[in-house]
Amino acid sequence: MERSQDGGNLSGVQHIILVLSGKGGVGKSTISTEIALALRHAGKKVGILDVDLCGPSIPRMLNAQSKDVHQCDSGWVPVYVDQEKSISLMSIGFLLEHPDDAVVWRGPKKNALIKQFASDVAWGDLDFLIVDTPPGTSDEHIATVDALRPFNPMGALLVTTPQECTNIFSKGGGEELARLSGVPFLGCVPLDPLLSQSLEQGKDFVQEFPNSAAYPAISSIARQILDMASPRS
Ligand SMILES: Nc1ncnc2c1ncn2[C@@H]1O[C@H](COP(=O)(O)OP(=O)(O)OP(=O)(O)O)[C@@H](O)[C@H]1O
Ligand SMILES: [Mg+2]
Repeated sequence: MERSQDGGNLSGVQHIILVLSGKGGVGKSTISTEIALALRHAGKKVGILDVDLCGPSIPRMLNAQSKDVHQCDSGWVPVYVDQEKSISLMSIGFLLEHPDDAVVWRGPKKNALIKQFASDVAWGDLDFLIVDTPPGTSDEHIATVDALRPFNPMGALLVTTPQECTNIFSKGGGEELARLSGVPFLGCVPLDPLLSQSLEQGKDFVQEFPNSAAYPAISSIARQILDMASPRS
């Protein structure tokens, strides 16, 4: 496949944001999905790259699991989640014959697919590309950062949950961690049954439940991302 020298398929992407966490199940895919929806409602074009190769959950959260990726001259056409084509998504979930198939791969195979995800998805013009990762700091993360570094990612959104055992982290732990690390604290998303229900049913939480508990935090995080992005755009 021929690549242009100007950044290829990522050349039309303005801002790349990675979503990471040390632990599993803390809400990375939830945050990736909801921030994408909030940015889209703010009028932005958003792509989501799901590099959680062993546990892809975004297709289900966006009710896109039955869709397919197609090939075009410049690579894979991502799945468009909405009719307006303002959210596009690429996930290994679309490449498996059965969406629930287990992927048991060693590092090199994972690295190769992530490299291909970074170069071969025809995103077109995007304001934001959100990259949802598996838990931890493993092969997938190193491969992702290596592949995306030339495109100068805007930053990483670190998701954490309160720990009950250590006093300092029992509440406000994320805020304290941000302060200690000298990075901006973007917000605290409360547990919200309407959010988990929306994710299970593939509903657009941001559109349907603006009065719910988690909405203000999600829209505030999206607003801060927009503010941080604006001087660069
Ligand atoms: N604020 C919230 N309120 C209610 N439920 C939530 C919230 N955040 C996440 N959840 C629920 O918690 C579960 C785990 O969330 P999610 O899949 O986003 O975590 P993850 O960090 O991506 O997990 P993994 O490490 O397995 O990829 C999901 O079922 C989701 O619906
Ligand atoms: Mg996840």
